[in-house]
Amino acid sequence: MKTQVGIIGGGPSGLLLSQLLHVRGIETVLLEKHTREYVLGRIRAGVLEHGFVDLMREANCAERMDIEGEIHDGFEIAHDGIRDRLDLKTLTGGDTVMVYGQTELTRDLYDARAGADGIVIHNAMNVQPHDLKSDAPYLTYELDGEAQRVDCEFIIGADGYHGVSRQSIPKDILKEYERVYPFGWLGVLSETKPVSPELIYAKHERGFALCSMRSQVLSRYYIQVPLSDKVEDWSDDMFWEELKRRLPDDVVANLVTGPSVEKSIAPVRSFVAEPMRYGNLFLAGDAAHIVPPTGARGLNSAASDIQYLYHAFVDHYLNNDDSGLDGYSAKALARVWKAQRFSWWMTTLLHTFPENSGYDNKLQATDLAYLFSSESAMKSMAENYVGLPY
Ligand code: APR
Ligand code: PHB
Repeated sequence: MKTQVGIIGGGPSGLLLSQLLHVRGIETVLLEKHTREYVLGRIRAGVLEHGFVDLMREANCAERMDIEGEIHDGFEIAHDGIRDRLDLKTLTGGDTVMVYGQTELTRDLYDARAGADGIVIHNAMNVQPHDLKSDAPYLTYELDGEAQRVDCEFIIGADGYHGVSRQSIPKDILKEYERVYPFGWLGVLSETKPVSPELIYAKHERGFALCSMRSQVLSRYYIQVPLSDKVEDWSDDMFWEELKRRLPDDVVANLVTGPSVEKSIAPVRSFVAEPMRYGNLFLAGDAAHIVPPTGARGLNSAASDIQYLYHAFVDHYLNNDDSGLDGYSAKALARVWKAQRFSWWMTTLLHTFPENSGYDNKLQATDLAYLFSSESAMKSMAENYVGLPY
C-alpha cells in the first residue's frame, strides 16, 4: 500500500488529522492496534477549547457535537465553604468552552472516516516506522498474522504515551521532561443529573474534587486519592461520602448520587518529549506530551498539534511551502509548554500536597485569594482555560 501521510494511532489526534487532511484532498492511512470498540471504551476528558470546536467544524465533523455538546460560559472554584465563579466569556471577551466527551468526539471522527471511505486499519499489530530520515519512510505491521507494508511520504506518531513512534527517535536526540505528582484522580461516571450547570473545581484540605459532566443525564466526578489507593478500595458509597466532605454544603444539598457506570484511577503526571519531529516522523498528542487533568488541557494540547500539522501539510501539498513542516516542532512545543505551565499551576493551586509545609499552604491559599481579587489574574486564568491562540 502507498499513501501520502501514514498515521500511527487511532485516538483523537490521529483521527482528527486524517479527517482534516481528507477534506483538503490529502491521502492518509491510519493504523490502530486496537478495535474501535476498545478505543471507544476508554473514558477520558470532556472539555473542548473553542479552537478545537472550530477544528471539528472544519473537519466536517461537528454536526452531533453542535447539537449535543454544551457551551459553558464559565466554571466555579469552591474553597473554604464558598463558591467563586470564573466568567470565561466576559473575561476573554466572548470565548467559551464546549462540554462534549472525548468518547463521543472520537466516535464522530470514526464515523466521518468511515463515511468518506477513509483507510483506518484496526488490529494492526507490531507497527514499526522505518527509514525516517529518508524521503521514503515506510510502516510495517501485521494483520491477522500477515506482514504488511505502507509506503509513505510522511509518518505521524499519534500513538499515545505508550506508542512506538517516540521510541523510534534515537535516545541521543530525544529529550524527555517529566513530573510525577504524589496522587491520582479517582473518577466516577454516573447516570445522574449534574450537581450544577457548570463545572465545580473544589479545593479542600482532604484533597481536591471536581464535579463535571458529559450531559444532563450523565455526570463525571473526581476526587484526589493517594497513589497507593486501588479502585477496588473504593465502593460507590465511600466515593460519594468522600466527595460530599470536600464540597460546600449548598452543592452537597443538590448532589444526586447513583451507581457508578465506570470507576477508575488516573495518575497525575506531566511529560514532554522534545523535539516533536525526527526526519519525516512528526509526533502529536499524548505521544509527545501529557498533562495533569486539572486544566482540561490534555485533549486540547493534542488538538493544537493537529492544527499546526494540518496547516503544515496543506502548505506542503497545496502551496509548495515547507515552512510549516520545518517549524512544526518549535511552534507546537511553544504552545505545549504553555499548556504544561497552566496545568501545573492549576494542579498546584487546588490539590493537597502531603509534603507541603505550613508556609506552602499559606502561599497556596493566597494564590487563590489573589486570583479572585484581581481582574488581571482572572483574565489570565480564563484565556488559558478557553485555549491560547494557535
Ligand atoms: N500501533 C498502533 N496504534 C497504537 C500503538 C501502536 N504501536 N500504540 C498505541 N496505539 C494507539 C492506541 O491504541 C490509541 O488508540 O494510539 C492511540 C493513541 O490515542 P490516545 O492515547 O488517545 O492519544 P491521542 O490521540 O494523542 O489523544 C490525546 O488527550 O485527553 C487526553 O490522554 C487523553 O487520549 C487523550 C489525549
Ligand atoms: C472531565 O469531565 O472528565 C474533566 C473536566 C475538566 C477537567 C478534567 C476532566 O479539568
